[in-house]
Amino acid sequence: MKKLDAKTESRIEEIINTLTLEQKVGQMNQFCSWAGTVETYGERIRRGEFGTMICGVANFSEDGSAEKGFRDFHNALQKIAVEESPCGIPLMFGGDVIHCYNVCYPVGMGSAASFDPELVERCYRNISEACARDGLNWTFSPVLDLAHDPRWGRCVESEGEDPYLAGQIGAAMVRGFQKDLDNTDNLISCPKHYIGYGAMDGGRDYHNCDISDYFMENWYATPYRAAVDAGALTVMSSFNSVSGEPVTSSKKLLRGLLKGQMGFDGFVISDYDAVMQLVNQGVAEDLRECAKLAAEGGVDMEMVQTSYLKYLCELVRSGELDEEVINESVRRVLRVKFAANLFDNPYKEYYPIDIDRHVADARQIASENVVLLKNKNNILPLKSDDRVFMAGPFFEEKISQIGAWASHIDFSLIHSYREALSDIVTMVEVEDEYDVDIPENNGDFAQAKKYKEEANKACFIGHSNHAMFGEAISHELLDNYKAIVLFLGEVHYCTGEAVSVADINIPEDQVELVRKAHATGLPVIGVMNFGRPRAIGEIEHMLDAIVWGWHNGTMNAEGMLDVLYGKKNPCGRLPMTILRHVGQIPLYYNAPNTARRVNAYYGEGRSYFDMKSSPAYPFGYGLSYTTFEYSAPETDRTEIALSDIDAGETVKITVKVKNTGELAGKEVIQCYVRDHFATMMRPRRQLVKFEKPEIAAGETYTATFEIGKRELGYWLNGEFIVEKGKFTVYVGENCYTENGVEIEVI
Ligand code: GLC
Repeated sequence: MKKLDAKTESRIEEIINTLTLEQKVGQMNQFCSWAGTVETYGERIRRGEFGTMICGVANFSEDGSAEKGFRDFHNALQKIAVEESPCGIPLMFGGDVIHCYNVCYPVGMGSAASFDPELVERCYRNISEACARDGLNWTFSPVLDLAHDPRWGRCVESEGEDPYLAGQIGAAMVRGFQKDLDNTDNLISCPKHYIGYGAMDGGRDYHNCDISDYFMENWYATPYRAAVDAGALTVMSSFNSVSGEPVTSSKKLLRGLLKGQMGFDGFVISDYDAVMQLVNQGVAEDLRECAKLAAEGGVDMEMVQTSYLKYLCELVRSGELDEEVINESVRRVLRVKFAANLFDNPYKEYYPIDIDRHVADARQIASENVVLLKNKNNILPLKSDDRVFMAGPFFEEKISQIGAWASHIDFSLIHSYREALSDIVTMVEVEDEYDVDIPENNGDFAQAKKYKEEANKACFIGHSNHAMFGEAISHELLDNYKAIVLFLGEVHYCTGEAVSVADINIPEDQVELVRKAHATGLPVIGVMNFGRPRAIGEIEHMLDAIVWGWHNGTMNAEGMLDVLYGKKNPCGRLPMTILRHVGQIPLYYNAPNTARRVNAYYGEGRSYFDMKSSPAYPFGYGLSYTTFEYSAPETDRTEIALSDIDAGETVKITVKVKNTGELAGKEVIQCYVRDHFATMMRPRRQLVKFEKPEIAAGETYTATFEIGKRELGYWLNGEFIVEKGKFTVYVGENCYTENGVEIEVI
């Protein structure tokens, strides 16, 4: 958070000294705003009973009436707070504005697949602009949990398995939301769910995980460190426990790692009901003890429940809780409200936005995060007059592409593949055999709820044209079509909170569809609309081309078709490993090396008797319609003294990347480091930097990476150290690159 001036700091102390104990605890309490009226809440605000509200998100309305109602209601509550509450402290109004507002962008995993922080920041600036004018000033986003387990439903909300990429993308989201924090068209961000939420046993939500300090500091904490450095004003703690300690009451993780080592000076809010869940987790016998443990642990604000409101004053007065704990939390809450300019500019006003620009940005990211995994015989890109046979459960889909936690969506902007095709191809023949009647979704949630029941009944929605691959059709196909395009995917309802899946393989009915299409002898192109990286071992060999499009939001169809028909040269890269089989979990690229020369990830030796142990496709992987050639990396020095590194000196690594094809294309130039010998086992390699330049056909781009303390060092027992010894710096197209140069720290 930006430093507040002395005048503001003294004003904060003055407020703390003026408020009663009850009113201070009120600032640590959050209430929901969806169940009452200005009158019912007005009295509680005048008494200073809560400092923030969780508000949901305004419903979308064509004429803006719902949004105006939402804005007016929260402005009215704010007016009471500013004019009639103790010390006139403004309220924060928070909601789950995760990756969309009017226009929907890709889920977190999809943003990470773009490897383009600037583009992501622009999209999140759009979300902030579109949302802030309707009344919210705070969002419970981004999700920065490191995901090693694709069974976990919320991996789709995360930025994948790499600490550095998640940090770069997450920091871009924070900057996009918060902007200049003048409280006109920005939102206060809230990176979540701190910490270890993506590491739970079996990918099962709300469960436990066991993370060593070493892995915590060097893998899981990294994205949060980047978000704190980017100025995130609030952080949400997570439901899970880490190594036998609930995060909600963990002094070690909240006061030690987050507020201490990372220097986070905003405030921590619990997750929903998480404070009272300390009873379930067996560390507190009642809500009074929950309140004590969470407040002492470092949770500055309780989301929605009232353990704090009910018990903190009594705990202070009985001498069981130091009042300074309360003062410190209130200080943090007030600092955030001042830093977010809520005292000087507490209300929200309507202003126009350029929705066409938002849609254009959505289309850009929905095409530039598409990952081309396979393209046998260069069957892609298609030409607009190619006769291709289109089928699959996602060909008509118009809801699941919005992903988990999507709300306030203008559904009129969303097209199915079938609808979007008409802009690109002259003729489309589609068999209309459905498994499930698909109601026209007019964007209202009653309809979508009905749709969900239908969808869940059929599990995977839409039509699966098994009939068309019968004997007769297949001969007709062979004579008349260039390829079959199958639009596969998962409904967004099987991603997100509390919907982990035990089996991440491709659903059987879609495997069957691929099998039948493959049996025709025609090339088969798999368009994968899965929010999470599902295991593709059963179908990979039957597909001639594979393009992964995530749940890509409003422009999901257009973005993918831009790639399929060559309007865009694919430049997405995998933010999370794609496995062959669920049995390989966990398998991620930046694990430490192994004892024997058997390393499953890198295909060394044999880890499983019954199948190949390497992943189907590795982290950072993705193809282009052109080709790129990397020169061997050059370094300006092969040795560097430890003292020079500590003084901030760096090694400059330079690589030339030539576009050796006929098409211009963006390449994600990835820089990895391996520390060969250290006190602790270091990753086989870890991503430390990347660039994504556009390189014209035949042109050469020179990439220069400065490798210094941050890239060579690691956290050990709370201290960031660099140790002497041999390092290799690799620069290449994905984590498998061997294009490296050795340097020595002496
Ligand atoms: C939920 C989620 C969290 C969300 C919060 C408020 O349980 O875990 O991501 O922001 O509650 O809705």
